[in-house]
Amino acid sequence: TKGGYEHFMYKEIHEQPGALRRTIHGRLNPLNGGVELEAFPPGTFADVEQIHLVAMGTSHHAGMYAASLMAARGIPAFPFMAGEYAVTVPPVTPGTLVVAVSQSGETADTLDAVRRARAAGARTLAVTNVVGSSITRECDAELLIRAGPEIGVAATKTFSSQVTALTLLTERLAEDVTGSKSGDAHDIVDALSRLPGDVQEVLDTATASAIAAEYQDSDAYFFIGRGIAHPVALEGALKFKEISYEHAEGFAASELKHGPLALVTPLTPVFAIFTGEEDEATLSNVKEVQARGAPVVAITGDTDGEISEFADHVLAIPETHPDVAGVLANVQLQLVAYHAAKLLDRPIDKPRNLAKCVTVE
Ligand code: F6R
Repeated sequence: TKGGYEHFMYKEIHEQPGALRRTIHGRLNPLNGGVELEAFPPGTFADVEQIHLVAMGTSHHAGMYAASLMAARGIPAFPFMAGEYAVTVPPVTPGTLVVAVSQSGETADTLDAVRRARAAGARTLAVTNVVGSSITRECDAELLIRAGPEIGVAATKTFSSQVTALTLLTERLAEDVTGSKSGDAHDIVDALSRLPGDVQEVLDTATASAIAAEYQDSDAYFFIGRGIAHPVALEGALKFKEISYEHAEGFAASELKHGPLALVTPLTPVFAIFTGEEDEATLSNVKEVQARGAPVVAITGDTDGEISEFADHVLAIPETHPDVAGVLANVQLQLVAYHAAKLLDRPIDKPRNLAKCVTVE
């Protein structure tokens, strides 16, 4: 049931602190800055040479996020849209670990990518929310995200739990593949242990409904970010378009000048995501869109610095490790999408033309 909430999506957004507590439960060791994944003791991934992350939609955005974290730790990691993975057939070696990310564990494109990877000799690992799903049967191993059942068609709490589980996996991989813990391991473990409380703080202090109301008559909505903020921008736009039916697009902030800037007008608010890394460069993109008259909503933990000075509005997130900040920023964007769709009276839990689980290609 919706437990007093008007929509499952809103309920699931608010369930995120609990979902994240389950995702990390028993998996963090604050004493040594390590992660403990029941099925993957230290050394499990010692012979992994490269990672392919295959997934669709929101799960693909979690895969992009994780690939960015892995690459920053010296692990060759590449995200693929699972449906394209089958078409392009990237080189798979016995040292390739294919990580299939799927909330439902039943997405046809993702299952197909796994089958192809296996046939080519890769090791496979499922990151999923559903115990006993098809993907767990197709893969050599599984990492459960433990978000709890998600009813709303729009994925919310499962994205947060996917990114969190993949962050844990990244630390395990970094230690196994490079021979030592990542330099940030302690800080990451600390930030992850604070994440459920930080998400709660975002929910308790949310001002997204006022932002959605202020910009409800816009022509289009753009989302920009760099590094891990890039998949967060794509996810912010996906959520916005799928439940509001408004035109929403996410871009790498670096891409703006190479085309999308032509679309920017005073009627296209730009949501700029700042995680504490590469913020200067994204701030210069903010100035570019403002020069074209676009209002800017900054999602940032830097609430009394230069970013807030330039932005028209700020959606604040608690200060945390930059690698974890993307999860908090995404919660703000979930709320913006939800309130925008609600103002338009859309059927939020069951958007037109979409299904929770896409079992045909
Ligand atoms: C968007 C959404 C979809 C799914 C995609 C993959 O809100 O939910 O984009 O993320 O269909 O689904 P799973 O994760 O079940 O493989």
